[in-house]
Amino acid sequence: MKHLSLILERNRTALYPDVTGGTAAEGFPVKQKMKGKRVNLLGLLSFFVILGFLLIVYLGADILTGTLYFNYHHFVKKLQNSITPIEHSEHFMISAFLDHRVDRAIRVISIIRRDSLQPLYCIYHHYYSDYQVVTAEVEIHSDHFGFPFGAADVLCRGPSTQNASHVAVSTNTSISYSMDFLPVRNRVPTETFQYNFTICISSLFRNYNNALQFAQTMEMYKLVGVQHVVIYNTSCGPDLEKLLQHYQREGILEIVSWPVDQFLTPSAGWNSQKHPGDLHYYGQLVTLNECVYRHMYQSRYVLLNDIDEIIMPYKHANLPLMMQGLQQKQKNVGVFLIENHIFPKTQFEESHKYRRPEWRNIPGVNIMEHIYREPQRPHIINPTKLIVNPRYVLQTSVHSTLKSLGEVYRVPFNVCHIIHVRVALQGRLSKEQLLVDSRVWDFEDQLVPNVDRALQSAGFNLYDHSSFTQATVLE
Ligand SMILES: *[C@@H]1O[C@H](CO)[C@@H](O)[C@H](O)[C@H]1NC(C)=O
Ligand SMILES: *[C@@H]1O[C@H](CO)[C@@H](O)[C@H](O)[C@H]1NC(C)=O
Ligand SMILES: *[C@@H]1O[C@H](CO)[C@@H](O)[C@H](O)[C@H]1NC(C)=O
Ligand SMILES: *[C@@H]1O[C@H](CO)[C@@H](O)[C@H](O)[C@H]1NC(C)=O
Repeated sequence: MKHLSLILERNRTALYPDVTGGTAAEGFPVKQKMKGKRVNLLGLLSFFVILGFLLIVYLGADILTGTLYFNYHHFVKKLQNSITPIEHSEHFMISAFLDHRVDRAIRVISIIRRDSLQPLYCIYHHYYSDYQVVTAEVEIHSDHFGFPFGAADVLCRGPSTQNASHVAVSTNTSISYSMDFLPVRNRVPTETFQYNFTICISSLFRNYNNALQFAQTMEMYKLVGVQHVVIYNTSCGPDLEKLLQHYQREGILEIVSWPVDQFLTPSAGWNSQKHPGDLHYYGQLVTLNECVYRHMYQSRYVLLNDIDEIIMPYKHANLPLMMQGLQQKQKNVGVFLIENHIFPKTQFEESHKYRRPEWRNIPGVNIMEHIYREPQRPHIINPTKLIVNPRYVLQTSVHSTLKSLGEVYRVPFNVCHIIHVRVALQGRLSKEQLLVDSRVWDFEDQLVPNVDRALQSAGFNLYDHSSFTQATVLE
């Protein structure tokens, strides 16, 4: 009970000065003074009375509901990690959800070392009630791109899983108190959602510092109706960090700490030959699945795309109108595929009307300058990203779901596609061979001032041009 002794320690230092009439500056001469002074016996007594009182005030509710031990555990877990090693194995558990669609089994999103499979057990219970132990079913997702570790679901099926509050995945059927239990989420399904549109952005890593593009993208998303953005953060650059903190303060952004590099050597790409490592792309598949389950009863729709991509409605003013239109015609669709289109960051719009001095010192790409889209390549199917109804998704990959309920619908390019400003894919094409697509300009009236405001709130000085460097513009 590390937590308890901590509180004891804190109370002791707070209380002794009162008890002895001394001051904090005297340090701890308490023991000496107490010797032979009966009045201090009274002091000691009142110390314990007050301590008892404070304990009841602090922890009373927890003691009454029997959640003290578990809150302690989760308190510590929160301070630690979203990634928990499974003892005596090379595997990891991430988070646990009740799956109302699959026999109310408990699904533990996990990272499994594919060549080291061993029997695993689920140990679950409802607060202080009896523990249940069942053999776990491990489903490794079919997309692992050849890396040794893969995203997986550990399924716990057994009596009264629907009542479980906590679960642990273990290599052993016996229970030990050092075991890490995860809280079971999604225990109560709802039909009303806190958000209509949530974006899940997987694993931000290394020194990613594309601040201007991020601010523009976030403001663009707000204008098309997104209420909530979730980013899994391994690490990032200093300017992006300022913006992350700004949007977190604002309330639209939720940061999930994702220190996967402390446990594994993540690959910086999807190709295990080119980018060797333990796990595909900083655990992208794990975070996407975690995010879908985390928002199953929080968000009507979840968008799964990268940090530099905007899922943009072209026929409707915003995402709510678009999804209403699509869903009216496609009643049983749970997965909408959105085509990705590349806007090379090396081709600039010629009037330079958006090359604003205010943005000169902000590192990153200015998406408003890049309105040239690469044409469709013959015989090549464009990769897609996803808008999903999370309640229809069992397992997802990056470009499509792996297991889902309902139907899958490929949204026509002219209704919606992704604006993805990045290095060219068809680098040989001249500007004349690219297509003009200036959809973001439609939002300029609000977008430009909103971006300025966000940058300033994040702590950037837009009007100091003394440190202007050409390099930031050319990036
Ligand atoms: C779940 O908990 C409720 C309330 O405590 C109880 O009535 C019910 O029997 C439990 N169900 C199972 C399957 O244990
Ligand atoms: C399970 O734990 C018990 C008690 O700690 C131990 O004796 C046993 O060897 C363990 N079994 C496995 C398979 O690790
Ligand atoms: C979500 O959409 C519904 C109906 O389309 C609307 O009533 C509700 O206010 C929206 N919720 C949010 C958080 O915007
Ligand atoms: C992102 O992660 C890095 C590395 O752990 C950390 O230094 C930074 O503060 C995190 N940013 C936010 C906004 O949480």
